[in-house]
Amino acid sequence: MPKNIIVTGGCGFIGSNFVHYVAKNHPETHVTVLDALTYAGNIENIKGLPADRVEFVHGNICDAELLDKIVPGHDAIVHYAAESHNDNSIADPEPFIQSNIVGTYRLLEAARKYDVRYHQISTDEVYGDLALDDSHRFTPESPYRPSSPYSSSKASADMLVRAWHRTYGLKTTISNCSNNYGPYQHVEKFIPRQVTNILDGIRPKLYGNGLNVRDWIHTEDHSSAVWAILTKGRIGETYLIGANGERNNLDVLHDILRVMGQPEDAFDWVRDRPGHDRRYAIDPTKLMTELGWKPKHTDFESGLKQTIQWYTDNEDWWRPAKAATEAKYKKQGQ
Ligand code: NAD
Ligand code: TYD
Repeated sequence: MPKNIIVTGGCGFIGSNFVHYVAKNHPETHVTVLDALTYAGNIENIKGLPADRVEFVHGNICDAELLDKIVPGHDAIVHYAAESHNDNSIADPEPFIQSNIVGTYRLLEAARKYDVRYHQISTDEVYGDLALDDSHRFTPESPYRPSSPYSSSKASADMLVRAWHRTYGLKTTISNCSNNYGPYQHVEKFIPRQVTNILDGIRPKLYGNGLNVRDWIHTEDHSSAVWAILTKGRIGETYLIGANGERNNLDVLHDILRVMGQPEDAFDWVRDRPGHDRRYAIDPTKLMTELGWKPKHTDFESGLKQTIQWYTDNEDWWRPAKAATEAKYKKQGQ
């Protein structure tokens, strides 16, 4: 059982949900959050957690000197920190190369130097996309075929992790998860963008023909899966995390509109994302059979309702990022 872990990106959406999860369910584990507080990081996300169990270090994962100071004494690194948004990666790939590739390299080197267990948080997007009518889902054996600057930077990082395991014997695991939803997700992402648009009297925006499919999982289920892999996963292995949540974007938007009392056509079609992946779908059999993991949030509609309620109740949290996010999308014709 890891007693003293570093969680990089612990002030972002999924990282902060994991920090909450550990603080609540594994009080014997101390967490050091390492986060650069980019536009996507918010210290408020970990506010109120017990100070003796959750410590915050403001810093960049690319800073090798800083890693030399904080990594010794920890028994695991769980690496969430990344530039995470596809549309941003298309507009400006540079930060993705730095944080996602160089940053992962620096962390791997620090883990090697101080002999620390390492878990890589990755995405199903490294596998590219599937046709809508393909009966297959991604498995740990699927070939890497990333489409965007974001997904190719994550694929590059995963390759480094595999190489550090094989060449240096670093104790690594990798998880590739599908699209997360839940509290603390930045308003640039699909679900929070549409919910906060409606709260603001702006019409939701749908890319392309709206038929692209994402495989939705509640972020709390992602956290429990990562904990299972960190504590019980086989070293050197890759686990895919998903909760059988395939839905197309139009259906998700219709759900949001219905829950928020809007007519079903109260949205705008906007310019499609260049290179837009058609469909993601995860086969989570290995994780479920080998590690006995099961998702708790199996009813998407009820998880979505809770998420909509969270954004409705927490305007102070999302308001500061909203106008700049919409201005950026407007410039891109989205
Ligand atoms: P996010 O953008 O909400 O948060 C990223 C966090 O990392 C922020 O707190 C940011 O300040 C921090 N960060 C970025 N660059 C940094 C750097 N160089 N040094 C230190 N901190 C830095 O992202 P998210 O959606 O929570 O995603 C977290 C991880 O999960 C990413 O690795 C992402 O690829 C992966 N993932 C995301 C999804 C999803 O649906 N969002 C799905 C599967 C995997
Ligand atoms: P996003 O949340 O950016 O996640 P990802 O690109 O990692 O899947 O987008 C989810 C889906 O929603 C994707 O198919 C793009 C689409 N989308 C829209 O239709 N409208 C929007 O305003 C946004 C942000 C995304």
